[in-house]
Amino acid sequence: MFLRNAWYVAAWSSEVNDQLFTRRILDTPILLYRKTDGGIAAITDRCPHRFAPLHMGKRRGDVIQCGYHGLCFDATGTCIENPVGNKLIPKAAKVASFPVVERDQLIWVWMGEVEQADTALIPNFGILSSPDWVHGTGGYLHADCHYELMVDNLMDLSHVNFLHPAFGNETMLASKSDVVDEGRKIHANLWMPNTDVPAFMRDSFVDQPRIDQWLDMQWTAPSALLLSFGGTTPGQAREAGIQGWAGHILTPETDRSTHYFFSMSRQGKGAEEAVALGFATQLRVFGTEDKPMVQACQDSMGDAEFWSLKPVLLSNDVAAVRVRRRLAELVKQERAAGVSTSPMSTV
Ligand code: FES
Ligand SMILES: [Fe+2]
Repeated sequence: MFLRNAWYVAAWSSEVNDQLFTRRILDTPILLYRKTDGGIAAITDRCPHRFAPLHMGKRRGDVIQCGYHGLCFDATGTCIENPVGNKLIPKAAKVASFPVVERDQLIWVWMGEVEQADTALIPNFGILSSPDWVHGTGGYLHADCHYELMVDNLMDLSHVNFLHPAFGNETMLASKSDVVDEGRKIHANLWMPNTDVPAFMRDSFVDQPRIDQWLDMQWTAPSALLLSFGGTTPGQAREAGIQGWAGHILTPETDRSTHYFFSMSRQGKGAEEAVALGFATQLRVFGTEDKPMVQACQDSMGDAEFWSLKPVLLSNDVAAVRVRRRLAELVKQERAAGVSTSPMSTV
């Protein structure tokens, strides 16, 4: 159950150049390449003749020639040449093209009805375009699990105490997220007053044993999450302390696998070192702690639908459950409106 009328991150800008880049999104193979004018083309990576992946073909300017029998497609997916036999171009010789927006170092594709593509629905990652922050971008992991299990993991940070003990503490364990619902946006704000200074902030609070700390997670439909984190001297404004942003963007590859894009942004003295360290830590922690656990949950669930297993709900599940229900509502609404579930719906 994918939400089709939505923007998904297909790749980091840095991943797509003049070479042919392929990535499966919502179970649809997509071919991405940077056109000669610098814009991004996104077309189905499957020739309509014998279904050869087009990324195995050749690029001639902005035209892609299939590597099997030579059909040529332009950046809109229209077949413009058939070099074989009578050289006629059958009407059906075309592939889908997808609306693309490159913004905030990310390449967003619209996977639904072309006429509904609304750039106002692109999740806001403007922080990644701000020159006032130092950014670590290009983070990518592949996980063998349904993307909603990864969203659950991020919307309920109570797992930190157990899965990442180096980052948790008693105050975090006892704190409860404040959930704010804004429709296509849901926030889980965790405020932890007078808590131990976590290791990654110790250099900034040398003589202080305690700080006020926050972890504010924001979900934007369908699966883009942005964490505001930081700490300050107890009782002082957040701005007076240490602040950072961590992007966690999930794109379904299939119903059992997920692309995980992540970033880190810091500000102020020592920001470069903090980003380098924070980014390396994210890669290690997500890759060796979150990913194996969430994949193991998926293996344990098999092909069963999440709610059919009657999961036990705890007080800290409020935000994650709210997100699941909102996503289900959005999917239901677009099904009721007749939006096709076909992965090739934009042909
Ligand atoms: S499979 Fe592409 S031209 Fe035959
Ligand atoms: Fe985690």
